[in-house]
Amino acid sequence: MTRRDPSDPVSLLTELDHVGIAVHDLEAAIAYYRDTYGATVTHRERIELDGVEEALIAVADSYIQLLCPTRPDSPVARFLERRGEGLHHVGYRVDDCATALASVRAGGGALIDEAPRPGSRGTTVAFVHPKGAFGTLIELVQEPS
Ligand code: CO
Repeated sequence: MTRRDPSDPVSLLTELDHVGIAVHDLEAAIAYYRDTYGATVTHRERIELDGVEEALIAVADSYIQLLCPTRPDSPVARFLERRGEGLHHVGYRVDDCATALASVRAGGGALIDEAPRPGSRGTTVAFVHPKGAFGTLIELVQEPS
């Protein structure tokens, strides 16, 4: 478990995978993106582990991820209570979630997930705490192989 070699010019982040946006009303948010921008949902999923229902809207090779809580004690529900609707997290695509997570850990970063875990649409993900990441909740996203 090592931090990336600082002399290595290759970034661990390969794409902007998605921006996660917390909303109170998923259908209303979907309608806004569809009617205003012509941007339509390409994937929907209920993730019981996180207590959210998500709708993914493809924008080129990235997604807008609309997130709505499915239970009052889910992290997204607590976020909405404290902060209201808006930008919740940024998902960066990585080749290997475990390698990226190890680099965060080795750099002294605060982790939310100690190990990679299943995300939506078959991805493998891990969250990095905003503390130590300049105020942004970061999700490391490894595409299904
Ligand atoms: Co996400």
